[in-house]
Amino acid sequence: MNAAAITIRPIVGALGAEIFGVDIAGDLDNATWAAVHRAFLDYGVIFFRDQDMTPDQQIAFARRFGALADYPFAVGLEDHLEITEVIKNPGETNAFGALWHADTTYMEKPPMATMLLARETPTAGGDTQFANMALAFQTLSVGMQGLLSGLRVVQSSGARYGGDETRETRKGQFKSVKMKGAGNVATTHVHPAVRTHPETGAKGLYVNSAHTLKFDGMSEAESRPLLDFLLKHLSKPEFTCRFAWRPGSVAIWDNRAVQHFAINDYDARRVMHRITIAGDTHS
Ligand code: SIN
Repeated sequence: MNAAAITIRPIVGALGAEIFGVDIAGDLDNATWAAVHRAFLDYGVIFFRDQDMTPDQQIAFARRFGALADYPFAVGLEDHLEITEVIKNPGETNAFGALWHADTTYMEKPPMATMLLARETPTAGGDTQFANMALAFQTLSVGMQGLLSGLRVVQSSGARYGGDETRETRKGQFKSVKMKGAGNVATTHVHPAVRTHPETGAKGLYVNSAHTLKFDGMSEAESRPLLDFLLKHLSKPEFTCRFAWRPGSVAIWDNRAVQHFAINDYDARRVMHRITIAGDTHS
């Protein structure tokens, strides 16, 4: 693989770039890897098309980004535990990830990045949207930025998925995603409402529709009006991009900088192979 062959093309103004001329299933030389990694940091989410990858090759490429993380609520593939299969079949009404979120922000160390490889896609529909959290923060007033910079948020798996009762609900919700059995309890952690990206230094909004319960030290009722304002603000069209999948498409997004939303507008089979890359505690 030769770094000179790479083309990086932004897909809209806010975030997201498509990368051409790289076979991510193969060995990437250091210069190619550096260009891919730079694009990941610069654009928040990067896309590749027509990648013919075995599960082992997908895992090897994910490992270039860092150590892999376990997904707390779903079971991995039998022979490749690192890969969670996100499936929706015809007749199912709910889709996994169909609301704005960064991944598993209720964990002490939420995953740094997530990779999706499309295995089977609907002929139309099932796109994923992404939103730039630094832009969402920068476009708030100075007064609101100052207020939020002093706040922390309680992020909870129980906000949506939770402990036993809600996990059962979730099992029913996502019929084709293999969920973990008993013993996997709700997790809650407090994080800053605005996080500073450890590599780019950019400040980004860190509240989301899936997991943010309330501001730390406030009640849920007190938190709701400001959370509702922020959750509406962060998904404005001008902060977003949208990606239409085909089999062999790959996306890798930076959970420290970006939120995503799986659009549930199809009644067909869609199969994605998902890997998360471990993150750190953050400020
Ligand atoms: C997810 O939220 O991890 C799934 C996104 C998708 O299936 O598009």
